[in-house]
Amino acid sequence: NQGNSTNIVWHHSTVTREARAYQRGHRSAILWFTGLSGSGKSTLANAVNSALFEQGMACYVLDGDNIRHGLCKDLGFSDSDREENIRRIGEVAKLFLDAGVVVLTAFVSPFKADRDRARALVGEGDFIEIHCAADLGVCEERDTKGLYAKARAGEIKEFTGISSPYEEPELPELRVDTGGQGLEECVTHIIGYLQGQGIIP
Ligand code: PPS
Repeated sequence: NQGNSTNIVWHHSTVTREARAYQRGHRSAILWFTGLSGSGKSTLANAVNSALFEQGMACYVLDGDNIRHGLCKDLGFSDSDREENIRRIGEVAKLFLDAGVVVLTAFVSPFKADRDRARALVGEGDFIEIHCAADLGVCEERDTKGLYAKARAGEIKEFTGISSPYEEPELPELRVDTGGQGLEECVTHIIGYLQGQGIIP
């Protein structure tokens, strides 16, 4: 896709990511939450975000509310629209990473290839894939938005888990049992991992 980007020079910032990390006292990272609709991605990402914020860290959640209503409002749920959705989110997350922020993304991101492309945009250790592993049965029983019922009734086409696939991560950095464990336990698991990786103190 060179055509649109010839004669454009990349300006390297003089304020580096390392300088930001030193000043703030923590590294940046992408926490990529993936899982079925209703698996608890948003809830968990927001709870981790709150825990980080309370410790004075720079953090931000990207999820459907601020992405599918804005940057990606032209996209639906076909395979190719989901691919483009995840591509844009990956690029935005990369900018947050460079800005020194712990960015938490909460999207179904059902396709392994799309998640792997987002991972490949950044360095080793910068991309932490977190599988919110609640069984389909649990998500469907919760049906917090009533979407599973609509999908079963054929009112929503290409619904993840029902009429569109969800490709489980094979080797995510973290797998959290959002179907069985409580929220606080899941938050503690993730915070402990970030400390162990030296991302946060
Ligand atoms: S994707 O696959 O990553 O591009 O999807 P995402 O941007 O995360 O959007 C998923 C939320 O949109 C609602 N929704 C659907 N999900 C899956 N399949 C279909 N067809 C669909 N239509 C609407 C649904 O509420 C998802 O929200 P969450 O928070 O995951 O429940």
